[in-house]
Amino acid sequence: MASGTVSREAFGSRAGFILAAAGSAVGLGNMWRFSYQASEGGGAAFVLLYVVMTLLLGIPIMLAEFGLGRRAQLTPIGALRKLAGHRWARVGYVFIIGCGLILSYYSVIAGWTVRYAIESIVRGFPGDAGAHFAKVSSGSGAVAFHLGFMAVTLAIVMAGVKSGIERVSLVLMPALFFIVIGLAVWAATLPGAEAGYSVYLKPSLAQLKDPSVWRAAAAQAFFSLSLGMGAMLTFASYLSRRQDMPASATIVAFTDFGVAFVSGLVVFPVIYSLGLQGAVSDSTVGALFIALPGAFESMGAVGRVVGLFFFIALAVGAVTSAIALLEVVTASVIDEFGIGRRKAAAGTALVVAALGIMPATDLDLLGLADKIAGELLLVIGVLLISLLAGWVLPAEMRDELAAGASPFWQRQVPRIVAVLRWFVPPVILVVLYFSLRGTIAAIAAFAGGAG
Ligand code: PHE
Repeated sequence: MASGTVSREAFGSRAGFILAAAGSAVGLGNMWRFSYQASEGGGAAFVLLYVVMTLLLGIPIMLAEFGLGRRAQLTPIGALRKLAGHRWARVGYVFIIGCGLILSYYSVIAGWTVRYAIESIVRGFPGDAGAHFAKVSSGSGAVAFHLGFMAVTLAIVMAGVKSGIERVSLVLMPALFFIVIGLAVWAATLPGAEAGYSVYLKPSLAQLKDPSVWRAAAAQAFFSLSLGMGAMLTFASYLSRRQDMPASATIVAFTDFGVAFVSGLVVFPVIYSLGLQGAVSDSTVGALFIALPGAFESMGAVGRVVGLFFFIALAVGAVTSAIALLEVVTASVIDEFGIGRRKAAAGTALVVAALGIMPATDLDLLGLADKIAGELLLVIGVLLISLLAGWVLPAEMRDELAAGASPFWQRQVPRIVAVLRWFVPPVILVVLYFSLRGTIAAIAAFAGGAG
């Protein structure tokens, strides 16, 4: 049963696969993480580098994961064992642990978004946004919303690839696109929106020269595209060889970038038109969970409606990403131990839910977890994927990526594999060096703050 390709689940349609992969990619990363990284990294300089990283690193690495997953028709551990031997299978374990760790704090943040959405209906946004956020992000309330969010995610994953993940993505993703675009159009009508656009869209040369902005842009591209954790690999394991993967990866990457970019067109004008940039500060949560709710509150009834849609969009993005994270671990348990889907999903969700109680009650720990699992582990994972695709299995990759691809993309396949071999690993080594330094500094700061 464990290796039975006969009973392996599969996506029902190409659109279903693309929307599920885009659903995994588009999430809190596009709105929460993108906006705080962009405001830390100097706005437009970060945005520009982020586009470059998505194109030059993101798409090739996504294709490497797609190729590995579809070729093996297995989840990360089994796939790497089958294609590259037992030593590589260990990398699969790193992915599984990484996904579990990310989900544990991701679900906490998702819980906040659900709470803000509900509160905007029942009582509107509170006057003191900072104090309110302190309440939302601590204590039993934060734990309760985290657990509730995990329960919803679990229900979808339990239903399976086609009737759970694919069905939910086909409905929710288009809804999310409409909401975000609608919000951006509304934001453009705000008086003083230009100040926000100019921070967001005019890069400064000084910031472009800063290596930490480069590092942050690369790491954000990996996080946002769900790379380096075996998520895209797992989804591709449910694909048939008739699918055009290079075309699909390009669509997913552009969709992901598009949603992040348009979200910025909401966040920056709103914050700057109301002069709330002080509340953004350099905190991981300032822009989205303090400055924006503050802005919505000051706009009265309109703010309440707009804020409701904004937080619904965030929660929708979060749930389609969380199902991907839970699916990776669940499907791995199914493949490795031959346990049924429902039991595997429930067991996994229970462990992750318990783990999330810590970041739910400690914001500094949440920030640290994002540095370690959301950045460092991802960068390591991406490096290993590119080495595997470019150096260990280049011939298999060329064959797999060409299968089902249009003539145009078939001609690009050798180039893509060459990029994975020669270009991606050295660039990521540099990123890794800076990430390691950043993470060590963050750990030291955390230990200092706690002690
Ligand atoms: N890409 C998701 C987001 O942007 C997060 C994620 C990372 C999901 C890694 C799966 C794997 O929110």
